[in-house]
Amino acid sequence: MSSVNRFDVITIFPEYLEPLKLSLIGKAVSNGLIKIGVHDLRAQTTDVHGSVDDTPYGGGAGMVMSPEPWGKAIDAAAELAPNEIHELIVLTPAGEKLTQELAQTLTKSKHLIFACGRYEGIDVRVSDFYSSAKNFKVREVSIGDYVLGGGEVATLVIMEAIVRLLPGVIGNSASLDEESHTLSNDGETLVEYPNYTKPKEWRGLEVPEILLSGNHGEIAKWRLEQALIRTSLRKESP
Ligand code: ADE
Repeated sequence: MSSVNRFDVITIFPEYLEPLKLSLIGKAVSNGLIKIGVHDLRAQTTDVHGSVDDTPYGGGAGMVMSPEPWGKAIDAAAELAPNEIHELIVLTPAGEKLTQELAQTLTKSKHLIFACGRYEGIDVRVSDFYSSAKNFKVREVSIGDYVLGGGEVATLVIMEAIVRLLPGVIGNSASLDEESHTLSNDGETLVEYPNYTKPKEWRGLEVPEILLSGNHGEIAKWRLEQALIRTSLRKESP
């Protein structure tokens, strides 16, 4: 099964993506499992001010990002993975909501390009153009029902969710099968059971006796019960 091996991020704040050098993602890059390019949108502007936005047609508050620099930046990113289908992720609070399932789906695209909009977003003709362009797929994605200053942090969230699922990134891949939003009970997604480690007693709080019993069948039953309880409590909360 093929999986993503190249990520390109287009932004007016490349420094926002510095955390990609750390931890699991940084290691995946230095181990050669993935390649990441971060590109400054302003490099594609031609005027002295490096303008990337303009007032909205039809009036209204705020500024809209201009299509021309975006088109050039996306074309240049696509050239970094020739012969691939490019999945263009446009970050917007109006997009499809990120879920574990969507993160899984995105691991299967060979080349992901993230377009980090700011202000009132990107002129919609950019999405429209690449939706019908050969070798492109476009997805508008939101990380939740709140409005961020721009798509950079959302890109970090989505990339972290994807990269840890890639083969070879997490040493013990069995741990991926047991975590929240992946456990399945009759097709339902559950949040994870509670975890404990040493010491056996901490500030008067004991590890449940069952986890010390060595009885794997009973432990599995207890964990499933706990996962069901936590899942239903979470659904009840507003
Ligand atoms: N840009 C602004 N808000 C966002 C959100 N919630 N998700 C993705 N991109 C965004």
